[in-house]
Amino acid sequence: MSVPRDDQNVKTILVSGGAGYLGSTMVPLYLEQGYKVTVYDIFRWGSASLLGILHHPNLTVIKGDVLDTPRYKALVESHDVIIHLAAIVGYPACKKEPELATALNQTCVEQLCEWLKPHQRVIYASTGSCYGVVEGICTEDTPCNPVSLYGETKQAGETAVLKKANGVALRLATVFGASPRLRVDLLINDLLHKACTMKTFDLYEPHFKRTFLHVKDVARAFLFAIQHYTSMQGNAYNVGDESMNLTKMEVAKLIEANVEGCNITEGKGTDADKRDYEVSYQKIKKLGHQTVTVTVEQGIKELLKIIPHLSESELKIMKNV
Ligand SMILES: NC(=O)c1ccc[n+]([C@@H]2O[C@H](COP(=O)([O-])OP(=O)(O)OC[C@H]3O[C@@H](n4cnc5c(N)ncnc54)[C@H](O)[C@@H]3O)[C@@H](O)[C@H]2O)c1
Repeated sequence: MSVPRDDQNVKTILVSGGAGYLGSTMVPLYLEQGYKVTVYDIFRWGSASLLGILHHPNLTVIKGDVLDTPRYKALVESHDVIIHLAAIVGYPACKKEPELATALNQTCVEQLCEWLKPHQRVIYASTGSCYGVVEGICTEDTPCNPVSLYGETKQAGETAVLKKANGVALRLATVFGASPRLRVDLLINDLLHKACTMKTFDLYEPHFKRTFLHVKDVARAFLFAIQHYTSMQGNAYNVGDESMNLTKMEVAKLIEANVEGCNITEGKGTDADKRDYEVSYQKIKKLGHQTVTVTVEQGIKELLKIIPHLSESELKIMKNV
């Protein structure tokens, strides 16, 4: 049994960064559900991810910058739901462009929260990088201690959404799987790409415990938040599944089992976000949301249909830096 659905008056959804890895999987699902969806995106990684849905009469596509305040504000004000995905994503990219990362991931979100009216819904793509180093099992009550600029700016954005806008923050596990705009910098996608191209390579911090979720299940979690918003408001939720709390070496073994001739060995190196934790997903499950429909192994099998065939020019924009 799930908490009651409460989206009877929700008609329009604005997805900033909607052409990205998460957005280009979310938007088709929300169109399918009958919502009118506007994608607002600067197309940093191109716009081809939207080609498959352009025919849809309920889709509007606008090329623009969320830092163009008057334009973004007007769009925000005319939609029922705001999903703000536009960001500088991941710690390497934030390190490279620290000012832009702060402007996009933090200042812009804080501003957006001031524009919202009480009837509007805002759902924030937060991240486990907000937690930093964690002892024991990580729940939503575990204090956030981000250790990278990515984690810090994402946590500041989350705080604005929760405190200023009484919105919903979804702290996503590391996402994997195929999306119309593919990323190969995410742990599972990256290891699989290395497995296909190098066959033998080192894995740093192999015993670090991480937590994963397929990109389609991320889109489903946002849909659940759109449709059960009043039961979730003002709260952060870990989004993932206990069955997908795996060490990096456990992921490597699944990859080895699926890629012929692949041998992944222990190596040296560090994760700047220090993510080594086991996460509890009981809070969102208690609302009645079934968090997982695609396993890591299924995600690996689907990616294997395309990853070995990617060209250098395709890979360049899939590395997100
Ligand atoms: N992918 C993950 O594992 C993950 C996990 C947790 C949280 N998130 C969050 O989800 C969001 C989306 O991540 P993603 O993986 O889809 O990344 P992505 O880089 O694929 O997508 C980001 C999109 O934002 C757009 N964008 C960038 N700057 C913009 C600007 N100034 N104005 C308008 N659009 C702009 C880009 O063109 C791109 O289409 C981010 O906020 C990220 O922090 C992602």
